[in-house]
Amino acid sequence: MSPYAHITGWGMAVPEHILTNDDLAQRIDTSDEWITSRTGIHQRHIASRDQTTASLAVQASIHALESAGLSPGELDLIIVSTSSPEYLFPATACLVQDRLGASKAGAFDLLAACSGFIYALIISTQSIRSGDIQNALIIGSETLSRMVNWKDRNTSVLFGDGAGAFVLQAQEERGGIISSVMRSDGSGGDLLILPAGGSAMPASPETVLNHQHYVQMNGREVFRFASRVMAQATEEVVKKVQLTMDDVHLVIPHQANQRIIESALKSLNLPIERCMINLDRYGNTSTASIPIATCEAIQQGRLKPGDNVVFVGFGAGLTWGAALAVWSGLIPGAPKHVLPLHFKLYARLQSIIRRFLRHIDALIWGRHNPPI
Ligand code: UT7
Repeated sequence: MSPYAHITGWGMAVPEHILTNDDLAQRIDTSDEWITSRTGIHQRHIASRDQTTASLAVQASIHALESAGLSPGELDLIIVSTSSPEYLFPATACLVQDRLGASKAGAFDLLAACSGFIYALIISTQSIRSGDIQNALIIGSETLSRMVNWKDRNTSVLFGDGAGAFVLQAQEERGGIISSVMRSDGSGGDLLILPAGGSAMPASPETVLNHQHYVQMNGREVFRFASRVMAQATEEVVKKVQLTMDDVHLVIPHQANQRIIESALKSLNLPIERCMINLDRYGNTSTASIPIATCEAIQQGRLKPGDNVVFVGFGAGLTWGAALAVWSGLIPGAPKHVLPLHFKLYARLQSIIRRFLRHIDALIWGRHNPPI
């Protein structure tokens, strides 16, 4: 029988610096009243100069590994979902792998915008259920503040920085992710786009002058699309396992806009008490929003083992998806002596040694081989 993929660890990390709506109103033509009434957002966290998508991802991962009682060396797979990677390549996931010292893990980035964490959840579940791997770490991490035009009031008021991570582990008993849907519609790709810097529009002085390295969005269209698919995907994932909305204890949606969430809840006929909302304090942290909201739901005691929880998201692409989990909670008896922070120091040392050995190897190789 194929094993189930249980969520056994979780963690989050947000930058210390908070930017309030009033702070924004001092810079651009907006107001706390407009932002609050149209989005529900009061403030967002913004990365400092020395914080990046990888550094936030590592912080969140360490908390997730600690709660699961798993050492980085036991990981088979690391997926970083992000739209604000450190580089086009190498993958941010490989930087995270190196900084954690997860020497057995394959690592790659996944780009499905704000739906990315749901996609990562589904892909890692499928890898575990196939029997191919035992332990996966999935991370949603963003520093979109670096890609937003701070003079554009249509987008700059929405986004915040942060990271959230889950550990998934193979276990025989039924639980974890039991149902999922992934969807896309590329015909809406232009509705939410960062136009320049890729192969279609390589970086040039013109692209910089024309602000084409910033997020551009048709807010109204994205709003309409999101309100429709959030409810549809939630219903679909629930029906797939012959459940009804009455069986769902908590919905954890992508935290983009309070009005989008309320409209989805109305279509689902679900009371707001059964939905986790924390966008007022974090803004839209894109792919990080679902794991961050999950961590807070756990802190608030809103998830207990055996609960049915639906994660649902939408984003650029267009993409959307949902996953239904039977919440596992912490594994009883998971080792408590795992100290991922120590692993982080060990990982640094390991990385330095690997670089040094590569250097020696190149010298030896050069002695025995003619120049290319
Ligand atoms: O993770 C996915 C990412 N994206 C989203 O989830 C975005 C989905 N869309 C939305 O959340 C909403 O469409 C927004 C919050 C972006 C905008 O709200 P809206 O109710 O759709 O406003 P709107 O775009 O229709 O604009 C209404 C008015 C416009 O003025 P006029 O043309 O009516 O005079 C805008 O220029 O509000 C104006 N406006 C603002 N005013 C003050 C737009 N942004 C601002 C602002 N402050 N920040």
